[in-house]
Amino acid sequence: MNTPARRSRVRSAALAASAALLLGLAVAPAAQAGTDGAKRTKTLHELARETGRYFGSAVDNPELADTEFADLLGKEFGQTTPGNGMKWYATEPQRGVFDYTAGDEIVNYAKAEHLKVRGHTLLWHNQLPSWLTSGTWTKDELRSILKNHITNVVKHYRGKVFAWDVANEIMNEDGTYRQNIFYKTIGPSYIADALRWARAADPHVKLYLNDYNVEAIGPKSGAYYTLIKQLKADGVPIDGFGMQAHLALQYGFPDRLQQNIQRFADLGVDVAITELDIRMILPSDTAKLAEQADWYGKVTDACLAVRRCVGITVWGYTDRHSWIPSVFQGEGAALPWDENLQHKPAYDAIHDALAAAAQED
Ligand code: XIL
Repeated sequence: MNTPARRSRVRSAALAASAALLLGLAVAPAAQAGTDGAKRTKTLHELARETGRYFGSAVDNPELADTEFADLLGKEFGQTTPGNGMKWYATEPQRGVFDYTAGDEIVNYAKAEHLKVRGHTLLWHNQLPSWLTSGTWTKDELRSILKNHITNVVKHYRGKVFAWDVANEIMNEDGTYRQNIFYKTIGPSYIADALRWARAADPHVKLYLNDYNVEAIGPKSGAYYTLIKQLKADGVPIDGFGMQAHLALQYGFPDRLQQNIQRFADLGVDVAITELDIRMILPSDTAKLAEQADWYGKVTDACLAVRRCVGITVWGYTDRHSWIPSVFQGEGAALPWDENLQHKPAYDAIHDALAAAAQED
């Protein structure tokens, strides 16, 4: 569609470009041409914003030193999540001693680049400090440790993050509670406690539960559905459900993703795709990259089809910096940009899905 608004946007971009040329500045194109040769001038976030959503990418602190990477992240995205910088091992390395260096570095970068920040994560069974995992705690002691941690971290980032993954990965595949240190010592009430303490520390931040393998309708997402329904009935503050969406081509596309997002929305919570990547068994080839593109498009479509699906975050945006190869041996190529920061077909698929929805709005 070539609406007047669109024509004027194109015209002002052209004017800005020629002005920059006159000044002798290097003009970075807003976006590279697609792998199919088609021109896609708007960024993913610009399009997402037109639909009332954000499009973001995680970033890990050491990656900020890669200026080419950091610049493109700031240009293309509207939201970021610290890959590690706000986890417990980073924020409370010794009991009662808080260190916000890594988290603040991301928040400061995000502020300079006008990115919103999702806080990740207040409570998880991984990447806990050893003082916590090696100690033996009574129920009361661990409750007070958890309360102190949540209160401090949430207060520190009040007004700086718009959402928190309060509890991460608290369910097993079969829908039973994961036997993490908090469950074993406190029992399942630690979840409602954590949410209430987070709310007390910041009345405005959106509070999420977040997990992987919850994109399909199945026992694990079913357990969250039941839990969130109960939390709501009990008056416990819960604002959102995060679907990590660490997908893998060899396991198939998650069954009934859109209906699953919709049923959480119908419970009265927001849904976010929080850690999207779509890995494959290496080496990649044209067929796998095409299937990956199709999946990226389908995940984007599913979110866009549900009003309360508020945004999508990819877990890093380039194969240059991805957690996949170090954790899943022989797998990778999971992100929409390749190692050289060039678009893959996946980028075009996301862009086209967002552009189609942006036009409808
Ligand atoms: C990963 C980070 O990307 C890695 O750098 C780190 O070594 C391990 O954790 N689910 C989550 C994220 O919620 O915090 C994880 O991040 C990926 C899986």
